[in-house]
Amino acid sequence: MAAHFGMIGLGTMGRNLLLNVAGHGYEVCGYDREPAQQKRLMDEAKGKNVNAAASLPEFIQSLQTPRIIMLLVPAGKIVDAVITDLLPLVQKGDIILDGGNSHFADTERRYSQLQGSGIHFIGMGVSGGEEGARVGPSLMPGGNRESYELVKDILESVAAKSDEGACVSFIGNTAAGHYTKMVHNGIEYAMMQMISEVYGVLKYAGQFSNAELHALFSAWNKAELQSFLVEITADVFLKKDEATGKDLVDMILDKAKQKGTGMWTSQSAMDLNVPIPSIDAAVTMRYLSALKEERVHHSSLYSSGNGKSLFNKEQLAGICKNALHFGFLLAYGQGLHLLKAASEQYNYNISIPEVLRVWKGGCIIRSVMLNDLRKAYKENTGLSNIIASPVFQPVFSQLRNDLAGLVKSSIEYQLPSASLAASLYYFDAYIAGRLPANLIQAQRDLFGAHTYERIDKPGVFHTGWESKPITMT
Ligand code: 6PG
Repeated sequence: MAAHFGMIGLGTMGRNLLLNVAGHGYEVCGYDREPAQQKRLMDEAKGKNVNAAASLPEFIQSLQTPRIIMLLVPAGKIVDAVITDLLPLVQKGDIILDGGNSHFADTERRYSQLQGSGIHFIGMGVSGGEEGARVGPSLMPGGNRESYELVKDILESVAAKSDEGACVSFIGNTAAGHYTKMVHNGIEYAMMQMISEVYGVLKYAGQFSNAELHALFSAWNKAELQSFLVEITADVFLKKDEATGKDLVDMILDKAKQKGTGMWTSQSAMDLNVPIPSIDAAVTMRYLSALKEERVHHSSLYSSGNGKSLFNKEQLAGICKNALHFGFLLAYGQGLHLLKAASEQYNYNISIPEVLRVWKGGCIIRSVMLNDLRKAYKENTGLSNIIASPVFQPVFSQLRNDLAGLVKSSIEYQLPSASLAASLYYFDAYIAGRLPANLIQAQRDLFGAHTYERIDKPGVFHTGWESKPITMT
C-alpha cells in the first residue's frame, strides 16, 4: 500500500516523529542512508504500518502522490544535498517539509528556489525533543497557506494537544516557521540559563542540598513557574549516577554545549536593532562555560567571593522564585518583541497569539505563563513589548525588587547571574524616562560631528565644541 507520509533522516527525531505519524493510522515510509538507522526504525515499529526503503528511488516510489516528504537531517549543507538528490525524483505538487533547525535565511533561499519548480516547500520548526517527537511535538510550519493545507490534517493529528487544540498552526510566510523556532530556542537558552543561575545561588549561597532543590523546584512547578523546564529540573536533582552512586548532576562537567540557534537569535536581533539582553547573556554564558580550562587557571589567580548571606534559606527561596518568574517573563517578552519586528521586516505576517497557542503544548518552553502572554497580545495585537501591558504591569512592579535582591546576592557570592542581571538592567532601562545617553550624543558630536537632538526643540544640532589641545610628551 502506498504510504501517506515519508521521512528522510531516521535519527532520534526523525524516527520518533515517523512512529508518531504511524501511530495515528497513516502508512509511512522512512529512508536513511545509514542502513543501521533503517533497521532501528523497523525494530521499533513492531509490526506497525511502517516501512523502510533501501534507496531514495525506492522511497519515492513507495509514497502516494502528491508526496509528503519530511526531512529531519542536520541543518545546513545536508538539507541542500538531500533536496538536490530529491529534485529529479519528485514531481509538481509534491511537498517537501524541512523539520530541522534550519537557519531562516537558508529556508528563505530554499523556498524561493523551489517555488519556481512547482514543489511545495515548508520550513517547519519542531520542538519537544525525542519524547515530544514520539508523543506530540509543537509544530511551527511556514511557507504559504496553500502548501500548509495539504499537510494540515497529518500535522494536527501528530502535534501535541493543549486545552486550546493541536499545537500547530500556519505560522506565516516563507521562513516564518523556522524564524519562530529560532526565537523559541533563544527563549529556551535564556530560561535554562536563568534556572542554572538560580541553582547556583541556592546551592552555594543558600547551601541547598540536591534533595532540597528537588523539593523546591517541584513545589515551584505547581504554581506561577509551572513549566516543562522547571519540571525536568526537579527530576534532574533526583537522578543517581550509576557508576558512583552519587547525585548525577554533581558528576556532570560544567561546560554547556550548543548547536547555534541561540546565537542566531542574538545575531538576528542585532540586525533588527531589537534588544534581547537576557538571551544574549545566555548565549555568552555558554561560551564562558566552554572555557573550562582557562576558568580553572584564572580561578587560581584571583580570590573568590567571601559571600555573606543577605537572606535566610526561606527568604532566598522566595526571592529566587520571584526572580525566575520575572526573568522568564522578560525572556518571552524579548523573544516576542523580536518576533514581531522580524514579522514586519520580512513580511512573515505572524500572529503572536497564535504562536503562543502553538507553544502551549509539546515544546521545551511551554509554561503556564503563556496563558497570560496570550491574553496580553489578544487584548492588544499591536503590543510592542509586554512591559507596556496592563496584564503584566502589576507583576513586574511587585517582583522587581526580588530580582534585584537575587542579583545582589549573586554579586556578593561572585556567582555570575548574567541572564537575570541582564533582565533587571533591561527592565530598569526600558522603564527609565531618561537615560544618560545624552552624554553619548554629546561625545559623538564632539569627536565626529554626528549631531544630536535637543530636549527643548525639534531638529538636529551640531556644536563647535572647544576641545582641549592635545599635548604630546
Ligand atoms: C526543541 C529544542 C531542540 C534543540 C535542543 C538543543 O525545541 O526541541 O530546541 O530543537 O536542538 O534544545 O539545542 P542546543 O544544542 O543549541 O542547546
